Amino acid sequence: MWSFVCEFLVASLVAWSAAAELSFVAEGSQRGKKVDIKELDFQAIPPRRHWQEGSRSRSHPHVKDASKRADISYSGNWCGASQHSTSADQIVNAFSYFTAPDLQLRPGIPGAQYAAAWVGIDGAACKSALLQAGVTTVVNTNGGQSASAWWQWYPEASYSIKGLPVKPGEWMTVNITATSATSGKVIITNAQQGYSVAITVSNGPKLCRVDAEWIVEDFYDAKGQVAFASFSDVWFVDAAATTVKGKNIGIDGAAMVHLQNENGTVVCEAEAYDNSNFVLTSK
Ligand SMILES: *[C@@H]1O[C@H](CO)[C@@H](O)[C@H](O)[C@H]1NC(C)=O
Ligand SMILES: *[C@@H]1O[C@H](CO)[C@@H](O)[C@H](O)[C@H]1NC(C)=O
Repeated sequence: MWSFVCEFLVASLVAWSAAAELSFVAEGSQRGKKVDIKELDFQAIPPRRHWQEGSRSRSHPHVKDASKRADISYSGNWCGASQHSTSADQIVNAFSYFTAPDLQLRPGIPGAQYAAAWVGIDGAACKSALLQAGVTTVVNTNGGQSASAWWQWYPEASYSIKGLPVKPGEWMTVNITATSATSGKVIITNAQQGYSVAITVSNGPKLCRVDAEWIVEDFYDAKGQVAFASFSDVWFVDAAATTVKGKNIGIDGAAMVHLQNENGTVVCEAEAYDNSNFVLTSK
């Protein structure tokens, strides 16, 4: 079913340098054809908090389906699956196909509304760093949407990748490898349009490599937490987390994280289908 041809040809290689010590090189292609590095057009955005927050509500909603195969937890900003490994068998890779969020306005909430979907390593149990990449979609008050791809080694800046086009609902992949606690490789593709961007990063903030996660986030911008939109189901497909010992631990046993807004209402639920596929539903 997922028979997109992967054409990860190395097209160009140019050094990029961010503030502080973090540095990266990037290469891009579309259907095997070189993308000029300048056309990738990385734009730094100041970091905002991304750690998984606990629930704001003291009483959790009653969980109806006791047969759900994974633990359920509640968060004030994350919805999705969070898998944990031990420092004895650290996570080296997190991968998934997912759909770029396709949004609808939530009635009664003023202004533009948002959701970000991403794959990452750390940021749940480990609070020193989070290496992540994904897509943020905004729906404006007139219902029009735009989506943009980005990567971030939090708490360093986020980089939007203007040269990687994405429309709401399109199938993306993110493939994140932690080659060490402070170096990694992020490959983000638009599987439908055949674009691939690979970013090799050095001197990142220290990862613990104990969590892998696949998340839709009600994130923060300069003014605080953004208004969280309604969305069409977001599927994570072929989700995998590989450990140092070469095991794919998938999402079996992961915490399925549901998002509760500031008023304690559950606005997003995550439900596992099997060890590598799950769906997020807007409530
Ligand atoms: C992820 O990228 C690495 C190279 O960094 C590659 O070896 C691996 O096969 C990729 N995984 C998937 C599922 O494509
Ligand atoms: C929470 O409730 C307040 C008061 O009813 C309301 O103004 C606000 O919009 C609600 N927040 C959300 C995210 O629904």
